[in-house]
Amino acid sequence: MFTKIFIFVLIFVLSQEQSHGALHGTTKKMVDQANKNGPYLGLVIPNMFEMNPLLDNPHYKSSKLVIDYAGRRFRFGKIYKKPVILVMSGMGLVNAAVATQLLLTLFEIEGVVHYGIAGNANPNLHIGDVTIAENWSHSALWNWQRYGDGPENALPFEGEDGFTREIGYLKFGSYSTNGEDNLLNNVWYQAEEVYPVDGTPEKTQQAFWIPVDSDYLSLSKILEKLKLEDCINTTTCLSTPPKVTTVQRGTSANIYLDNAAYRNFLYTKFNISPVEMESAGVALICYQQRVPFITFRALSDLAGGGSATSNEADTFSGLSANNSVLVTVEFIKLLTDRYNRKLLKTF
Ligand SMILES: *[C@@H]1O[C@H](CO)[C@@H](O)[C@H](O)[C@H]1NC(C)=O
Ligand SMILES: *[C@@H]1O[C@H](CO)[C@@H](O)[C@H](O)[C@H]1NC(C)=O
Ligand SMILES: *[C@@H]1O[C@H](CO)[C@@H](O)[C@H](O)[C@H]1NC(C)=O
Repeated sequence: MFTKIFIFVLIFVLSQEQSHGALHGTTKKMVDQANKNGPYLGLVIPNMFEMNPLLDNPHYKSSKLVIDYAGRRFRFGKIYKKPVILVMSGMGLVNAAVATQLLLTLFEIEGVVHYGIAGNANPNLHIGDVTIAENWSHSALWNWQRYGDGPENALPFEGEDGFTREIGYLKFGSYSTNGEDNLLNNVWYQAEEVYPVDGTPEKTQQAFWIPVDSDYLSLSKILEKLKLEDCINTTTCLSTPPKVTTVQRGTSANIYLDNAAYRNFLYTKFNISPVEMESAGVALICYQQRVPFITFRALSDLAGGGSATSNEADTFSGLSANNSVLVTVEFIKLLTDRYNRKLLKTF
């Protein structure tokens, strides 16, 4: 008798879990419970190297709540009393997009802050500077043109909702050391296909430059006054004191860039400063879900510029990661202060 009841209860519990589809019983309960304490600011972080300085930051108070789902860990806490959820994305655009979409699908999120280190394509900036790019793009969605064709020839599948010659191209032949042509010919930069939450499903739209949230951007201008760390110890310091600076454009691709010629191309052609592997994934998801986002990326290497021997990335990457956290935490303080001022005004 006892075992019969036990089996019945067990089956009931199992079918309960299954009726929730992919998001199962206990996890679903935890998610629902967590959402009662929202809305949250979502922090998408490339890896532990950039997450750890935030976990160590005295202004981050962990709530001890952790929800693991679909291979991702969502950590709950507060920064200056602002409820936050931290999620590590992992490297590259697919990881960044998946982590961001899960964050937005599961939780009540009012905005997304993404931070980390980056390569620098802008010769006017220095290692250690923290950039706030106004626009982000994914710059490795290409149409690779056949040898013999040039800018006057239409691309395959060119036209409305198809490929375009509007954004521009890279000609490999322009970079041969002996001035000769190159069979790799041209690659044409293409916009991403997007499906915004307020669009018609299955009706394609295009997006190349994705702007960060204008309100977050104007608020973050105040951060340009912030004093950043410039030494890793008592003897080794950056030659130029680092600063927080707004720049026009950043770009992401599933490419670790350590090549001076391509770095120079990205800067002269597109006025790109930070170069990395995740922001565009976060940007494209937030853009489609109509959630405000901003990215803070600290420049930790020259993406192939500079001399190979100086190996800046190794020496200052920890400092850069720390500075990207410093800027993120200060930004959240500004958000909280402004919210408090608004509250005061309503009384
Ligand atoms: C970065 O911050 C951590 C604390 O999270 C500290 O232990 C470390 O020394 C800092 N690194 C540098 C290079 O400033
Ligand atoms: C400071 O860091 C540099 C680079 O890691 C190292 O070579 C040097 O010995 C350190 N100096 C001190 C005083 O720890
Ligand atoms: C940023 O993107 C928006 C929307 O695509 C565009 O209107 C604006 O001119 C862009 N600004 C820069 C600096 O690229």
